[in-house]
Amino acid sequence: MRIGVLGSGDVGGKIAKKFAALGHEVMLGSPHAKDKADQFPGIKLGTAPEAASHGEWVVNAMEGATALKVLEDCAIEGKIFVDIGNFESSIEGPLETPLGEAIQAAHPKTRLVKTLNNISAHLMVDPNGLPQQTTVFIASNDENAKAEVKEVLKAFGWSDIVDLGDLKACRAMENMAAAWVSIEKAVGGPNFNFALVRS
Ligand SMILES: NC(=O)c1ccc[n+]([C@@H]2O[C@H](COP(=O)([O-])OP(=O)(O)OC[C@H]3O[C@@H](n4cnc5c(N)ncnc54)[C@H](OP(=O)(O)O)[C@@H]3O)[C@@H](O)[C@H]2O)c1
Repeated sequence: MRIGVLGSGDVGGKIAKKFAALGHEVMLGSPHAKDKADQFPGIKLGTAPEAASHGEWVVNAMEGATALKVLEDCAIEGKIFVDIGNFESSIEGPLETPLGEAIQAAHPKTRLVKTLNNISAHLMVDPNGLPQQTTVFIASNDENAKAEVKEVLKAFGWSDIVDLGDLKACRAMENMAAAWVSIEKAVGGPNFNFALVRS
């Protein structure tokens, strides 16, 4: 499958490498992506609109306000769009419209699936890197798209995938990212994740 990853930082880079390792044809898109060829052998590099056009699926690995602006010029309609982003402003301030819902409202024909946004980048693609099983959450208004993304999460190594329903769950998922930042400071690093313990 052709995957376009928007943003070539910590998250975009790791997601792009994981999809490439699983055999997909990946393009990373960001302002400086073309300067990063040595970091991403075998991965195509371009602008965000070029990566979006390349992808049958598109992944958002940009900060929220940047994403909303950049996506105005990206061809994502009709595609599965995996939103991993958060608003930087919502880490210390109120979350008004959650990013996942805002992108879906701006691109109603996009098949948006929210997931992975409250998980440390290195664990998104290596969930067995912690000594116990932890949890990934997922939400979408499109049940078929969500089912396809769940299969990709399983291929990434996830087994505890908790379906929170439709995109109204973005508010909870994005507020968990604010909690993640506080916890990271408290425990002194990003090597942790949420685990949902239930009976
Ligand atoms: N880091 C984590 O552990 C983590 C975990 C969960 C969720 N997230 C979320 O994932 C998103 C990305 O986080 P990150 O840590 O990967 O950030 P990052 O390392 O700062 O990377 C941000 C990327 O956005 C790109 N960018 C900036 N302006 C752009 C534009 N106009 N068009 C296209 N790309 C543009 C940058 O491109 P250049 O490099 O070319 O300048 C950079 O590659 C955020 O929403 C964050 O909340 C992060």
